[in-house]
Amino acid sequence: MEANISKILITEEEIKVKVKELGEMITRDYQEKDLLVICILKGAMVFMADLVREIKVPLDIDTMVVTSYGSSTKSSGVVRILKDLDESVEDRDLLIVEDIVDTGLTLKYLMDNIFSRGPRSVKICSFLDKPERRKVAITPDYKGYSIPDEFVVGYGLDYAEKYRNLPYVAVLDPKAYS
Ligand code: IMP
Ligand code: MG
Repeated sequence: MEANISKILITEEEIKVKVKELGEMITRDYQEKDLLVICILKGAMVFMADLVREIKVPLDIDTMVVTSYGSSTKSSGVVRILKDLDESVEDRDLLIVEDIVDTGLTLKYLMDNIFSRGPRSVKICSFLDKPERRKVAITPDYKGYSIPDEFVVGYGLDYAEKYRNLPYVAVLDPKAYS
């Protein structure tokens, strides 16, 4: 195992099965829609790349880069858009793809911002969810796994920009950031 990884929480094989399931649900729900997948960079890039290949309806992909002020393992809720969408979302069916919903503050801000642009519908697909840590009412419409309140890395998730390339989700040893 990598240095600073204390345990593997979700294996590569488990991820594959789950992503396929999510793709099937989304395929069912987005027949005859105008689907625009919005990938929240950078965390969701790995998940989104796998997910779109399991979605069997026509879709467009757009990206947003957001940052939330705060320390590297805790979000503050003050969100800044570093790169906005390239495409118009008006009258389109949006699926926001996130790596993890933690406090929910980032998605709350994004949902309010994106809703004001007149989409036909907005749903959230998050690979991970830490429901215990929620501060605002945000519930992913599609989710991979609920996990306990531990800081995880891999499958796109980072600590200080590292570990995004791990093909599994793992708990980072608290020694790595304390
Ligand atoms: P929220 O605004 O608190 O919901 O935080 C959302 C963002 O915080 C996610 O998109 C991640 O980038 C980051 N984050 C939250 N928990 C973790 C974690 O356990 N590992 C890595 N990043 C995390
Ligand atoms: Mg993120």
